[in-house]
Amino acid sequence: MIDPRTTTGSTAAAAEDTVRLLTEALGGADVRPQVEEVGTVVEIDAGVAIVTGLGHALADEAVIFASGGVGIVSDLEPGRLGVILLCPTQGLAVGDDVHRTHTVVSVPVGDALLGRVVDALGRPLDRQGAIQAAGSKPIEAEAPEILDRAMVSRPLATGIKAIDAAVPIGRGQRELIIGDRQTGKTSIAVDAMLNQVDTGVISIYCAIGQRGDAVARVIAALEAGDAMANAIVMVAGGEEAPGLGFIAPYAATTMAEHFVAHGKDVLIVFDDLTRHARAYRELSLLLRRPPGREAYPGDIFYVHARLLERAAQLSPARGGGSLTALPVIETQAENLSAYIPTNLISITDGQVYLSPRLVRKGQFPAVDLGKSVSRVGGKAQSPAFRAVAGDIRVTLSQFEELESFARFGTRLDDDTRARLKRGAAVRAALRQPERRPIPALEQITVLLAAMGGLLDGIDEAAIPAAMQAIREAIDADADLQPVADQIAEGERLTDSDRESVLTLARQAMQAVSSNASERQGDVSDA
Ligand SMILES: Nc1ncnc2c1ncn2[C@@H]1O[C@H](COP(=O)(O)OP(=O)(O)OP(=O)(O)O)[C@@H](O)[C@H]1O
Ligand SMILES: [Mg+2]
Repeated sequence: MIDPRTTTGSTAAAAEDTVRLLTEALGGADVRPQVEEVGTVVEIDAGVAIVTGLGHALADEAVIFASGGVGIVSDLEPGRLGVILLCPTQGLAVGDDVHRTHTVVSVPVGDALLGRVVDALGRPLDRQGAIQAAGSKPIEAEAPEILDRAMVSRPLATGIKAIDAAVPIGRGQRELIIGDRQTGKTSIAVDAMLNQVDTGVISIYCAIGQRGDAVARVIAALEAGDAMANAIVMVAGGEEAPGLGFIAPYAATTMAEHFVAHGKDVLIVFDDLTRHARAYRELSLLLRRPPGREAYPGDIFYVHARLLERAAQLSPARGGGSLTALPVIETQAENLSAYIPTNLISITDGQVYLSPRLVRKGQFPAVDLGKSVSRVGGKAQSPAFRAVAGDIRVTLSQFEELESFARFGTRLDDDTRARLKRGAAVRAALRQPERRPIPALEQITVLLAAMGGLLDGIDEAAIPAAMQAIREAIDADADLQPVADQIAEGERLTDSDRESVLTLARQAMQAVSSNASERQGDVSDA
């Protein structure tokens, strides 16, 4: 307060004193008037709003509505803005005020998110209280530059035989998981995350437009496999604002990048980008952007490219962290050449194609090796796998060709019959129940056994038991631990190691077949 008794002397001196005292009292605060634009909502549609009066708002800037809801400035047109809503449309009314924030939309990042289920803005959806985040980062970020990247050279083991052996994925790679409805796309992604329990790789599962029960199943699987402690689940449900579904993968990538910048390896799953593309199409049509092919807006390719460009293996100078992306795409009636699938096939470094034809035959995981490829994973594949990997594709493709001939009841020569038997055994050996990732050495031994003909004579129904016996034999042999470690470190399998695992496999097979014949004996005795 200003004390009038201190303002003595002439009026001019008094005025000067007053100014000095006022300045002191305000502590040097900048009290100049500021102009703030306040916009007005003029139109509301499901998921978007048209706003006028914010002439200086920038693209991608977050704006706040009178209801407290947030939106992203998406279309800048003279005199009006197209805003994508990240809040329910119900809270908004035409005529509401809209304020600028001068920032872009950000999400919390840091260790506190691990083990949590969050929405696309990083707000908790589990009942575990507030998230004490280390900070927040904008959801859009530049992809790492070429000079900050290194070659993809380390394997990202999924624990799935068909993938690790034949379509290997490397850390920092983008591998598409593509297939029709209910072909096991989500299961592949979940198994890959479950396999990271002991690898130190952080998993992020970003569910876009999935049904609640499907997401609950994924969370339950991660919890049951002890993988949740090192994972984040982001959920943008189909019933929420489409804007949330649209920003979810970018937000999840921002959370991942925080760990990558600290030298960690992260695996991120986008389940699925078909629904992401649909959310963006919906928003674009409501914003009256010109529709292009299949009514998608012209920039849909860029929308996905700029997202997946953020996956990287960083150079040692940048800490050497990596972000591996597994985007999921749903095809319709196996149509790989639809617009969104072709876009994503060209953006990613390969695809795991899941075939409904194999699903109908009960072949799970339904990986069609003929249509699956990993364009960089081969370099990153652990060398021990390479010894078996090359042949599997050839054996299976020859087998499938022969199989289609054999159906016609042609008489077959011995060589063809042997090949058919081998092919059937190898295909059966690639089967694997979901939620059971397998360690590398056990995978290699089972596949070596199948390729080496140990499973040839066995009835297809008995092959899972035979494989189980082989795996148990490997697991029980403590001498093989150093070999398993060597494989994990990227060593190749020496000839003697190869012989010793095959001997173990043979012994295990003998035990299985003698047990089986004993049982057979019991039955005939009875
Ligand atoms: N390895 C497997 N062994 C046995 N069954 C499996 C395997 N993988 C997936 N399934 C089964 O196949 C069905 C579909 O799996 P999943 O939900 O992973 O497929 P999806 O392609 O993600 O389906 P959607 O198109 O609905 O998202 C489920 O019932 C699942 O239990
Ligand atoms: Mg799914």
